[in-house]
Amino acid sequence: MSQDFAGKVYWVTGATGALGRATALALAELGATVVASSRSVTAAQFADWPKVFALPLDVGDSHAVDQAAAAIVAEHGRIDGLVTSTNVGAFGEFLELTDEDWQRVIDAKLLGSVRPVRAALPHLIAAGKGAVVVISGRGGIDPSPQHFIGSSVNAALDLLVQGLGRRYGPHGVRVNAVAPGPIESPRLAELQGASLEKSEPLTPLAGPGKPTDVANAVVYLLSDAAAFVNASRLYVDGGGKRYA
Ligand SMILES: NC(=O)c1ccc[n+]([C@@H]2O[C@H](COP(=O)([O-])OP(=O)(O)OC[C@H]3O[C@@H](n4cnc5c(N)ncnc54)[C@H](OP(=O)(O)O)[C@@H]3O)[C@@H](O)[C@H]2O)c1
Repeated sequence: MSQDFAGKVYWVTGATGALGRATALALAELGATVVASSRSVTAAQFADWPKVFALPLDVGDSHAVDQAAAAIVAEHGRIDGLVTSTNVGAFGEFLELTDEDWQRVIDAKLLGSVRPVRAALPHLIAAGKGAVVVISGRGGIDPSPQHFIGSSVNAALDLLVQGLGRRYGPHGVRVNAVAPGPIESPRLAELQGASLEKSEPLTPLAGPGKPTDVANAVVYLLSDAAAFVNASRLYVDGGGKRYA
């Protein structure tokens, strides 16, 4: 399996989050240069990783996102791929969730993926090659009662990825999604705090999974080993819900 990332440049959003950070480090470990963005990211958070460059960025600011993509190309000479991994938590009963709750998640995760993809794509198209991985979530096909907003956004992202992969595949750009199930993270703890679904084990493979499980799937989809994988969705969820 080809996993040579030396000389390549990747942009990972949500890089202070559990999954974004694991992905940034996995890529850096394989020799890639990684631009790690989020609102609160600092160079100190990646002090041990000379190939990881912190880029403070709010994905709510379209103009700043466009500038970020251009700055990455200007500073590092190229961009080979993008991973979007932003979100904010909004868990709870449907009847108690407000318009503002919905809007926050749509902004952070749906538009928070749309904007970086829109900013990066012209550079990938100009290069005639590249890969995008959007982190969606298993809730996109299997909504849990406390997670309707995130689940709806995940479904939208999965569809977007399918469309983008088909639209830009002819330009050499592959677009795929990774859909995690429960992964050891502050976010999972928050969801479990709001949820009745605390029973163990969580999946047929027990679980929760680890952020590195998600990172490994992302790395695969970015790599040449996935050269014919496009417009698809890879579940990293231990097999879904466990019934027995
Ligand atoms: N953890 C799980 O079990 C799980 C399961 C299924 C799907 N997922 C999905 O996987 C993705 C990553 O999850 P995670 O657990 O790593 O989440 P997380 O720890 O909550 O991280 C979210 C990231 O998004 C960034 N962010 C939020 N709003 C932003 C904004 N306006 N601009 C820029 N960055 C912003 C945060 O950084 P700043 O606050 O510094 O901006 C943080 O880096 C999410 O889309 C999540 O829905 C996670």
